[in-house]
Amino acid sequence: MADPKKKLVANIEADFFVDSTCINCDTCRQIAPLNFSESEDYSFVNKVTENDEEFIDSYKALLSCPTGSIGYTGTKKVTEIINEYPEKLVDEDGIQIYFNGFTSVKSYAAKSYFLQTSEANWLIDSPRYVKPLVEKFKAMGGIDYIFLSHRDDVADADKYAKEFGAKRIIHEYELSAQPDSEIVIQGEQDCDFNSDIKFLFAPGHTKGHLLFYLKNKYLFTGDHLSWSRRKDSINAFKDFCWYSWELQLESLAKLLEVDFEWLLPGHGMYKHLSNEQMRAELRDMLEYFSENN
Ligand code: SF4
Ligand SMILES: [Fe+2]
Repeated sequence: MADPKKKLVANIEADFFVDSTCINCDTCRQIAPLNFSESEDYSFVNKVTENDEEFIDSYKALLSCPTGSIGYTGTKKVTEIINEYPEKLVDEDGIQIYFNGFTSVKSYAAKSYFLQTSEANWLIDSPRYVKPLVEKFKAMGGIDYIFLSHRDDVADADKYAKEFGAKRIIHEYELSAQPDSEIVIQGEQDCDFNSDIKFLFAPGHTKGHLLFYLKNKYLFTGDHLSWSRRKDSINAFKDFCWYSWELQLESLAKLLEVDFEWLLPGHGMYKHLSNEQMRAELRDMLEYFSENN
């Protein structure tokens, strides 16, 4: 719960406020970009909500803030807004993909997703363990598998695995983050889970980072590749590369051979473009990094 006594002076007078526990993760600015803005080391409320859409987005930002740094002092009814999550992003090709909201400080606010296919329900990385999400997942048929892209974004995967009897999938090099994971991917090559789903080996950010590749179209990228809201372009995090930037560039270059239209990252924004546009974005980014290495 945000503390009004710790309210940052940068906030304008409004029903929402940010307190000094903010870790500047960008989540609120992604979810409610009209009402939250960035100062040097934190976010603050820069605009009063002027309509229902802005109010709902601001309250969704409050729910998703990993540190509980956003407060609401107004009197509007908010109980229904909790049902906005998981929020549907895709409903086609016989699958549904949802953004879970409720980010966790344990994974520095990385996004996680809920995926329904005709064969199984998946968590792709993990949100915070909160009752409203647990109840929604139950109503949506539970969770069969939890794919963990890498060690940083596991959040409360163990609690969700226990609650739903789900199998966690992680690479052997990342296993220390969830040592009792049920399925451990070995070796340094891509592997097929079934005819629709592949796990792509993409070392660099960490030693055993995996990507979840679905139906030759949807790529869940963890912290390997993202979409930058500021630059409005594809982006990789050179300053937050923990294992090998050279290896990460090699792994990124391999994606030039991979068709995908949906980029679904941990940090940063998700994005839908054509294959050709994604490839062009990737090529431009790789060129930039080769010239500015
Ligand atoms: S979501 Fe919370 S922690 Fe993240 S920038 Fe906004 S107020 Fe700060
Ligand atoms: Fe990471």
